[in-house]
Amino acid sequence: MAILARRFGARSRKTSIGEFLGTPTDLIPELLAFANVNGSDVVYDLGCGDGRILIEAATRYGCRAVGYELDPSLCRIARDLASREQVNHLVTIHNADAMAAEIGGADVVFLFQPPDTVSRLVPELLKQLSPTGRIVAHEQSRVRCDPSPAASRPLFSPAALTVAHLWKADPTPGA
Ligand SMILES: C[S@@+](CC[C@H](N)C(=O)[O-])C[C@H]1O[C@@H](n2cnc3c(N)ncnc32)[C@H](O)[C@@H]1O
Repeated sequence: MAILARRFGARSRKTSIGEFLGTPTDLIPELLAFANVNGSDVVYDLGCGDGRILIEAATRYGCRAVGYELDPSLCRIARDLASREQVNHLVTIHNADAMAAEIGGADVVFLFQPPDTVSRLVPELLKQLSPTGRIVAHEQSRVRCDPSPAASRPLFSPAALTVAHLWKADPTPGA
């Protein structure tokens, strides 16, 4: 994501794009299904926290999963969790700035970041993804983004509520 780094001026200084707040674990299976994740996908999470989305993707679908996380302690937790769930061969955690990530190999990119960050990142990420690439973000508050999501869906459980948004690199209906 050298393009992102240039676009947002994150050259040598690592720039936080959001604080840690984990996606409610009981919503993750639905988020993965919403993104239509399958076993041949490579799933990225930019700002992966404790790796919960990646680990669920790898466990559930057997897909490869790659995370970028600035906080080294969260990276350690993510790697430990991946080992515990026996998916450490599928999950790679980079203790690195997501703004410097190369996302060309990603099929699905997850973003759980503040709405203004999502609005800024989505158009840039869409330029870098392959035609089958998808981006999924979820937020409780409204996300204003150009382009608009191809689909949005409320997700809720007894303990949590959010709205998931899906963008496709190829916006053709049915793609
Ligand atoms: C809201 S949390 C989301 C965690 C995880 N994706 C999830 O959904 O459970 C955002 C994460 O992004 C990380 N972060 C913030 N700026 C970052 C950056 N520039 N590069 C990598 N990680 C970053 C934070 O440390 C935090 O763990």
